[in-house]
Amino acid sequence: MTVIAIDGPAASGKGTLARKLAAHFDYAHLDTGALYRAVGLSVLRAGGRTDNEADAVAAAGKVAEVDLTDPELRTESTGAAASKVAAIPAVRQILLDYQRDFAAHPPGGKAGAVLDGRDIGTVICPEADHKIFITADVETRAKRRFLEIFGEDGAPDEYEIILAELRERDERDMNRSAAPLKPAEDAHLLDTTNSDIEAVFQKALSLING
Ligand code: CDP
Ligand code: CDP
Repeated sequence: MTVIAIDGPAASGKGTLARKLAAHFDYAHLDTGALYRAVGLSVLRAGGRTDNEADAVAAAGKVAEVDLTDPELRTESTGAAASKVAAIPAVRQILLDYQRDFAAHPPGGKAGAVLDGRDIGTVICPEADHKIFITADVETRAKRRFLEIFGEDGAPDEYEIILAELRERDERDMNRSAAPLKPAEDAHLLDTTNSDIEAVFQKALSLING
């Protein structure tokens, strides 16, 4: 079983790289951020509070019921809700087994798994065969998210809002005590500020293939 761990801050390109690597090696892919987003969205929809442990734990217990293709999961307000529930250790604990089980027994009988998130290389799969921590300047990441949502026609103030939201989320994700965002000691660091998707993919392949 081969496990590839991709971690990094919001909109650094984790999901894009993880999907490309999974397709290339024919491995299963798990977007672990979607699990936290599902918990955050469920709390909001139930009228609960995302910083309330009981509300968040109740939602985490029912994460399997959430449709992971719901477009509402991808919004920045769901991202903020995800980052709040993700700071609660009991929520992380509930999602841990599912993620480890995915890595140990990838669905579809695949020979490997690619997981992307914040703590895959540090907490979920510390024994992963390959660990990549991808970063990019926050302005570049905000620009990418902005283009993803609004295309070329977005208003400048929309960009500023996204930039502020990403900064706030980075801050919360890096400074929480439960599984903070940080590179594993044995992770390869990949700065993608000036690299397009294909260049990042080729660089990752060369790191993995040694
Ligand atoms: O796609 P983006 O990078 O914006 O975010 P995401 O990967 O969907 O994650 C949403 C939020 O979930 C993050 O801001 C983290 O707070 C949390 N998360 C986490 O704590 N641990 C993970 N393994 C994945 C996500
Ligand atoms: O999963 P994460 O939030 O880290 O990022 P993503 O969803 O993979 O990428 C965020 C956006 O940046 C997407 O629209 C990607 O197409 C784009 N992107 C890019 O323009 N250049 C890169 N090197 C990586 C991603």
